[in-house]
Amino acid sequence: MLAETHGDVYLAHFGVPIGVCEIPPGKWLQFELEGSPVFVRHRMAGEGSDTGESMSEAQSPTEVLESNVLIALSGICPHAGCRVTPGVIKSNGFLCPCHGSEFDVHGQVVKGPAKENLARVPHQISEAGLVFHRK
Ligand code: FES
Repeated sequence: MLAETHGDVYLAHFGVPIGVCEIPPGKWLQFELEGSPVFVRHRMAGEGSDTGESMSEAQSPTEVLESNVLIALSGICPHAGCRVTPGVIKSNGFLCPCHGSEFDVHGQVVKGPAKENLARVPHQISEAGLVFHRK
């Protein structure tokens, strides 16, 4: 099933594959997952990950997707539940407009008042596309 969009936002449901063919490296794609914002991106070559691994420059987009370097983060700030905005701070991370919390590209809090990271959203890539799962 091809992704249904509302502006630049892809509409998604848990357990239903969405045919997002390409997620450009470094760019956040926004999904509205059953009423809640989710941001997905795949890490750029050489960027590394929050586990200390780094990607090979030789990976093709398909290999990137298969090697599970996509990151899917909830767009809800853990401080008081506002929606965060991606890509507006220097690190390409997230800013919460309500009280100014900032999160890096891995969703880790770098500036409070939030004390917790953005929640990860379980997901997988199937032949039919990207599938989000409930925790
Ligand atoms: S709700 Fe995000 S910083 Fe308060």
